[in-house]
Amino acid sequence: MSNLWAQNKITFTIQANKPTATVASTMWGLFFEDINLGADGGLYAELVKNRSFEFDTPLMGWKINSAKDVMYGFYFGSDIQLINQPDKAATNPRFIRVALHKTKKGELSLTNEGFRGMGIKKNLRYEFSVFYRQQTATAMLHAELITEKGDIIGSAVLAPEQTDNRWHKVEMSLTALATEPKANLRLWFEGSGIVDLDMISLFPTDTWKGRKGGLRADLVQMLADMKPGFVRFPGGCIVEGRDLAQRYQWKKTIGPLEERKLIINRWNNEVKTRPVPDYFQSFGLGFLEYFQLCEDIGAEPLPILNCGMACQVNTAELIPLESLDPYVQDALDLIEFANGDGSTPWGKLRADLGHPAPFQLKMLGVGNENFGLPYVERFKRFQQAIQRQYPSVKLVGSTGLLSSGEMFETTNADLRKLKVDIVDEHNYSAPQWFLQNAGRYDHYDRSSTTKVFVGEYAAQSVGMTNPTNKNNWRTALAEAAYMTGLERNADIVQMASYAPLLAHVDGWQWKPDLIWFDNLGVMATPNYYVQQLFGANKGNQVVPMLDKNKLPVTGQDSLYASATLDKAASELIVKVVNAGGKAQSIEANIDGLRKLPLTAKVIMLQNNDLEAENSFTSPAIIAPIESIVNVQNKRLKVDLKGYSFVVMRIKL
Ligand code: AHR
Repeated sequence: MSNLWAQNKITFTIQANKPTATVASTMWGLFFEDINLGADGGLYAELVKNRSFEFDTPLMGWKINSAKDVMYGFYFGSDIQLINQPDKAATNPRFIRVALHKTKKGELSLTNEGFRGMGIKKNLRYEFSVFYRQQTATAMLHAELITEKGDIIGSAVLAPEQTDNRWHKVEMSLTALATEPKANLRLWFEGSGIVDLDMISLFPTDTWKGRKGGLRADLVQMLADMKPGFVRFPGGCIVEGRDLAQRYQWKKTIGPLEERKLIINRWNNEVKTRPVPDYFQSFGLGFLEYFQLCEDIGAEPLPILNCGMACQVNTAELIPLESLDPYVQDALDLIEFANGDGSTPWGKLRADLGHPAPFQLKMLGVGNENFGLPYVERFKRFQQAIQRQYPSVKLVGSTGLLSSGEMFETTNADLRKLKVDIVDEHNYSAPQWFLQNAGRYDHYDRSSTTKVFVGEYAAQSVGMTNPTNKNNWRTALAEAAYMTGLERNADIVQMASYAPLLAHVDGWQWKPDLIWFDNLGVMATPNYYVQQLFGANKGNQVVPMLDKNKLPVTGQDSLYASATLDKAASELIVKVVNAGGKAQSIEANIDGLRKLPLTAKVIMLQNNDLEAENSFTSPAIIAPIESIVNVQNKRLKVDLKGYSFVVMRIKL
C-alpha cells in the first residue's frame, strides 16, 4: 500500500488565463469499419446470416432438413432448390424454391445459424420477414426460435396469401420465451404447392431508437457515451478492397435492402490465422444509415472514399488517371447526396429515402492508407474537382500505413504542398512508442495550413499488429499519455480516433479493439474508458500546463499532462497520466483562478497491474472512479496513485 501513495511533491503551473489554441469540436471521434463482425453480426442488428443466399457458398449458414434434399451429408436440391436468376435480378439473383407435396411437420425445414448463433432475449418481440412468390395459397410457413439444445423458445406461423407469382414482403412477430445466447431460426413448411423465398430476416425490436431493421441499441449507446465529435466510416481497408472489384462503393449501399448487392468482406480471408469464410458485406448498414447514426449521436460524418487504388498491401491495383472520372464523380455525388436539396438528383434521392433534411457533410476522406506518387496524383484530381464545386468541404488525405519513414515523409510533404486541409496519420505501435511520442506534435511545423487527423491508433501490447495483442492497462495508459500530447497540440491535431472500434468475441480478426461484444452484451476495455474520458471532458480551449522548467509535461517523472477550458461550463479540465508505478503528489498553481476555496471533481482510472484487463465476467477491473478534492489558494493538490490516469474538473 505505502508505495502507492505519494512520496514526492511535483509542482506545475496551469496558465488558465492564457489559452493557446481552440480544441476542435471534432477532436475525439470514432473510426468505424466492418471488421471483427463490426457491422454484419454486430452493429447491424440483423440476426439471419446470408439472408439472401448470395454468399459465395449460397447455403452457407443454412442447414436443410429434408430426406430428399440431403443424402450422405450432401445437398442435392430436390424439394428445396437454390435458384440463380441473374437475368432477372442482377444484384440479388439467388433465392430458394420450396416444393411441398402434402408435406407434414418434421419433413422439410431450413435452419439459420445466425452470426455465431443469435442472441435472443426473454419477452422481447422479434420481427420475422420474408419475400415470397407463389401461384397457389396452399403452403404454410412456420418460424421457430430454437436453443442450442433444440428447445423451441418462440414461434409464429404464416400463410402466404398472394398468388400472383410476384414477390411480396410479409412480416410476423415472435416473442421469445427465454434468453438464449446462441439461438437458431428454424423454418418449417407444411401443405402443398411451390413457394419461392428470399431475404429471410429476423430483427429484435429493441433496436437503437426502435428503428425497424436498425442497429443494436447497446452498441450505439456505447458509441454515444463517448461523445464523439465525428465518425469516420466505412473503414479502413474495406474502402480500398483487396482488389478494385471489392472496393467499397457507397452508391451500392443505399435504397431497398434487397437491391444492395452483397460482396465479400476484405477481412474474410485477410488474416491467415483468423479465417472467417462466412464474412460478407450485406450493406444493410449502408451510407444512409451511417449518416443517420452520425446525426443521432451528434457526430460529424467523415466518409472515406476509394481513390482509384486497391489496398497497397494486397493487389495495389490502380485505375489509370485517364479513367478516374467515375471515382471522382462518386465523391461529388456523395456530397450532393448528403447536402443537396430536393431540387438536385442526389438530394432528392436522399429525401425519397426518408431523410429530406441535409446531413451537412463538411469533410470527406480520399483514400485509406494509400501513399506514394500514384496516390498523390489521384488525390489531386479529387481535390481539383471537389474544390471547384464544393470549396467549403474539407478534404482528408492519407499518409499511408505508417507515420514515419520515407513513404510517410514524401506523401506527407507532397500533400502539404497541395495544401490539403487535413492529413490522416496511422499508428499501431508498442505502448513505449506512445509514451515517447507524447511530445510528437509539440515540434510540428506550425507554418503549414494542413491539420492532422490521427485517424487510426492503438497501442499494441506485443509491439506490433498481431492477434495476440491485449487490451490491457499498459496499452490504455500509454494511449492516455499520448492523447495529452494530441490535446496540447489541438491547434494542429484536430481529430483523432482509436482503431478498430468493435469486435465480436467469436468473430474477430484483429486485436486490440476498443469495444468487445457477444450476442447479448458489451464489454468496455480500459482503452474505451480512456477514450470516453477524453471525449466527455474535452473542453474547447487549450491552456498551458508547465513543469518547473516551464516545459510541457511529456514524461518528466513519468507524468504526462494537458489542460483545457470548457467555456460553456466555465470549468478548467486537467488531465494527468502517471505512467510510473510510484505514487506521486502533484501540486498545480492555477493562474487566473479566484482565491476562493473550490472543489474539483476527480475521475480516475487506475490499476497496479499493467497487464490487467477487463472481461465479460469482471468488466470493471479498470473503470472510472469519481471523488472530490479541495482547491485552496489557487492550488490543486492531488495524490496520484501509481499507474493512474486522472481527469480533474474545477469550476472557475
Ligand atoms: O484498423 C484495422 C486496419 O488497420 C484498417 O482497416 C486499416 O486502415 C489499418 O491498416
